[in-house]
Amino acid sequence: QRIEWDIQAAQKGGYKHFMLKEIFEQPMVVTNCLTGRLSPDHKHVTLPELEEMPVPERLHIIACGTSFHAGLWAMYLMENWAKIPTSVEIASEYRYRDTILGEGDQVLVISQSGETADTLACLRKVKEQGAKVIGLCNVVGSSIARESDTVIYTQAGPEISVASTKAMCSQLVVLTLMALFWGRRKNLLTEMAETECLDTLKRIPEHLETALPEMRETARTLARQYSGARSFLFLGRGSCYPLALEGALKLKEISYIHAEGYAAGEMKHGPIALIDPDFPTFALALADDLFPKVQSNLQEVQARNGKIIALTQDGMDLTVDSVWKIPHAWGPLDVFFALPALQLFAYEVADYLGKDVDQPRNLAKSVTVE
Ligand code: G6P
Repeated sequence: QRIEWDIQAAQKGGYKHFMLKEIFEQPMVVTNCLTGRLSPDHKHVTLPELEEMPVPERLHIIACGTSFHAGLWAMYLMENWAKIPTSVEIASEYRYRDTILGEGDQVLVISQSGETADTLACLRKVKEQGAKVIGLCNVVGSSIARESDTVIYTQAGPEISVASTKAMCSQLVVLTLMALFWGRRKNLLTEMAETECLDTLKRIPEHLETALPEMRETARTLARQYSGARSFLFLGRGSCYPLALEGALKLKEISYIHAEGYAAGEMKHGPIALIDPDFPTFALALADDLFPKVQSNLQEVQARNGKIIALTQDGMDLTVDSVWKIPHAWGPLDVFFALPALQLFAYEVADYLGKDVDQPRNLAKSVTVE
């Protein structure tokens, strides 16, 4: 008797796609990222990889794709917690610019694969200019990991799906730890804030594990309602702006629906002209200081009969077509719930439309040519 088996199906561990499996691995990824990175009393961050280096006077973050979005999100934390002036650059642009690096500046290159050609080219360029480079990589021993002055591994485990999910989650954890680490070295953080942040981070895996199945159900329902749209606008402000970019990227990568991520306050300078009943908006309207601003941006959309899905939280006053509430974490760490929501929405739309979720057309997991 012959037993039919499929190695890929076995590796997917019961999930229909690697992408779904990897989205559901995120609680474990957060745990793995924290392992060994907290002091014995769990009150502080320990990052031996950065111990020997001074705190950057300015930080230049360089990356592509989803890793670029992680970098852009980190800018808010670096500025807010560690008061480090930070710029975030797309590698394919940065490599051909006459960039200026000052004494005391450091470069942080972010790459899941550690092999992205443009990012690697930037690393080599800035090293030639004498800058110190920190690599944030997932793949151990990759080119970027080897050529950086110091490398921090994200410990997300192998990511098979072309669309990156858990790798970004792991990058966000490490970037949070880096901002705390530098903030503390500059004596900018109260012990309370640091402890509160670390306590929240430690609770996220369990909290997220519980929340994910229901989030998937909501994503599935919304996918059925909205997958007929030809185009989507994703809006966010502050640290939710990079998430709007990432939500749009995920949707276009795997469902082939056109989507544009925009800073909500910038909508009035263009995209508002496109709003009509067939052009839905996916808004990040989390409970932060900018909520009232986002709320008024959404009123502008409604005034033009645009349909809205709003990712929001309890206690927020919003009347839109589809309200999707996610749990509260703490300040910018709400990202650990918002990100999987965006990933699940894209996943469910793509799956509903019958697309090849793990192997989208024209895309590669690692872009090693220019
Ligand atoms: C490709 C992948 C993306 C990824 C980007 C950067 O475009 O399809 O998912 O975000 O490369 O990859 P890296 O390995 O440098 O993070």
